[in-house]
Amino acid sequence: MKIAILGGTGDEGAGLGLRWAAAGHEIIIGSRLAEKGMRAALDLKARLPQAAITGTDNLSAAMLAELVVLAVPYQAQEVTLDVVKDQLAGKLLVTVVAPTGEKKARVWRLPDNVSAAEQAQQQLGDITRVVAALQSIGAHHLKDLEFQMDCDVLVCGDKGADKRIVMQLCEDAGMRGINAGALQNASVAEGLVSVLVAVNIIYKVKSAGIRITGID
Ligand SMILES: NC(=O)c1ccc[n+]([C@@H]2O[C@H](COP(=O)([O-])OP(=O)(O)OC[C@H]3O[C@@H](n4cnc5c(N)ncnc54)[C@H](OP(=O)(O)O)[C@@H]3O)[C@@H](O)[C@H]2O)c1
Repeated sequence: MKIAILGGTGDEGAGLGLRWAAAGHEIIIGSRLAEKGMRAALDLKARLPQAAITGTDNLSAAMLAELVVLAVPYQAQEVTLDVVKDQLAGKLLVTVVAPTGEKKARVWRLPDNVSAAEQAQQQLGDITRVVAALQSIGAHHLKDLEFQMDCDVLVCGDKGADKRIVMQLCEDAGMRGINAGALQNASVAEGLVSVLVAVNIIYKVKSAGIRITGID
């Protein structure tokens, strides 16, 4: 697929982009600044020369892609989506955003009683389908393609076909995607981030994760 990653200059977006590129997808790294997006893409290509990775500004990235990933901090979600809203019409938006507290990421705070993913869906309207995924993974090891990610990924959304696409993207990035129900359940996946940050700090590790048991 041709995948744009808004905020793909950060750890989470760049790491996922590298893994998806390694799996054969075409990746467009988006940034507020086209030049920064290009630099980030070159950095990733240096790790994987044969990969199809380019960089540009968020608006152009969203325009060029068939699937768009939102990988900016929660505080930047609304303004970023405002910029690309028209380009997302008819497309699938995968959001990895988790609204952790601004100062204490290890403490969970649900903003305005609605998940970041549902806020994105409200902002974009029904013309864009939103799926929430990949919140509860640690970005730390993503760029190490040899590293086996030891976690499952909760995938929340309102359409089965969209979730199947995203579950395949989880597989492509080396993780098992779990259909975790409606987009309304995204608040639980988003909340897990603070729990896992706390676990990382308490146990002095870098990538605590979750596993769903009881299914094959
Ligand atoms: N890091 C993790 O382990 C992890 C794991 C799971 C989920 N997540 C989620 O993934 C998202 C990205 O995480 P990250 O660690 O990669 O974040 P990050 O490095 O802080 O930010 C990612 C990119 O977002 C853009 N950005 C930052 N501040 C902005 C602002 N005020 N306005 C507009 N754009 C801004 C920047 O891109 P440009 O300057 O290039 O525009 C930045 O490189 C977050 O929502 C986070 O909760 C992170």
